[in-house]
Amino acid sequence: MTTITTTNPVLTATGVTMRFGGLTAVRSVDLAVHPGEIVGLIGPNGAGKTTFFNCLTGLYVPTEGTVSYKGSVLPPKPHLVTQAGVARTFQNIRLFANMTVLENVLVGRHTRTREGLWSALLRGPGFKRAEAASKERAMELLEFTGLADKADHLSRNLPYGEQRKLEIARALASDPGLLLLDEPTAGMNPQETRATEELVFAIRDKGTAVLVIEHDMRFIFNLCDRVAVLVQGQKLVEGTSDVVQSDERVVAAYLGTPFEGDPGEAEAAEVEAAEAGAAGATGGAGLTNTTGATGDAGGTTARTEDEQ
Ligand SMILES: Nc1ncnc2c1ncn2[C@@H]1O[C@H](COP(=O)(O)OP(=O)(O)OP(=O)(O)O)[C@@H](O)[C@H]1O
Ligand SMILES: [Mg+2]
Repeated sequence: MTTITTTNPVLTATGVTMRFGGLTAVRSVDLAVHPGEIVGLIGPNGAGKTTFFNCLTGLYVPTEGTVSYKGSVLPPKPHLVTQAGVARTFQNIRLFANMTVLENVLVGRHTRTREGLWSALLRGPGFKRAEAASKERAMELLEFTGLADKADHLSRNLPYGEQRKLEIARALASDPGLLLLDEPTAGMNPQETRATEELVFAIRDKGTAVLVIEHDMRFIFNLCDRVAVLVQGQKLVEGTSDVVQSDERVVAAYLGTPFEGDPGEAEAAEVEAAEAGAAGATGGAGLTNTTGATGDAGGTTARTEDEQ
């Protein structure tokens, strides 16, 4: 662990703020990812996670703050960010639906091939060599992600879970030093999620640091060396899985309950005291009311749990 934290970060985001008109979607967020790390970014819906990714990858120009990769400030242009060594997948899958699985990965390889337009048009020996090398690398990545037997399928015909894997393969085709994954297991069944977990570990073991957004807490806490929690655009907590899991502010942020000087608790104590008094004073009538109230509260709790 010590070696990880003392190495220079691959990614350094400093004071990143993104405002849309009156709405501050991301507010002064600092985050570092070191080589060999898998870092999680979690937070309730609308917390600003995807917006933060968009700021890191040049889709958005942050209103304030800087983003550096291996010590150099990244230009806010997606293709330059990819070229520098940062690749990503999207929360809403973005594949070329009518291209094959292999072709989708070849598109991702594009930033790493040097052959220019004329070379491609004339299909000279240099182009053919580069094309063969790209294809070989793309097939390697399809093996790595478990999609090799689907290389010739149209990407739109893949099941949802495999489309997500293909997005990862395509992102890896640019040989990134840092991979950003936005909800990689959304819509996956438990087996696919487990396989994706293994895939992310394997990506890290091959030398690519990973920053991952996910709502599946089991996935996040199994996988990540460190987790940062965004709430209403701000970083609320950052730490190991253990630290973050046991932080009451994180639990409160997810459940939408207050966490400091919890007024709910005081209210509950008042109700309890009043009920005790009423039961003592009026006997049967008081008890009937109390029972009714408890029944309603129980029903509400059950519904809330269903929705989680
Ligand atoms: N291009 C935009 N223009 C205006 N507002 C935006 C834009 N993009 C995002 N927002 C707003 O910024 C806030 C953060 O959205 P964001 O998509 O980053 O949240 P998120 O944490 O990724 O949520 P989820 O978990 O649902 O994906 C939301 O209030 C959203 O409506
Ligand atoms: Mg999002």
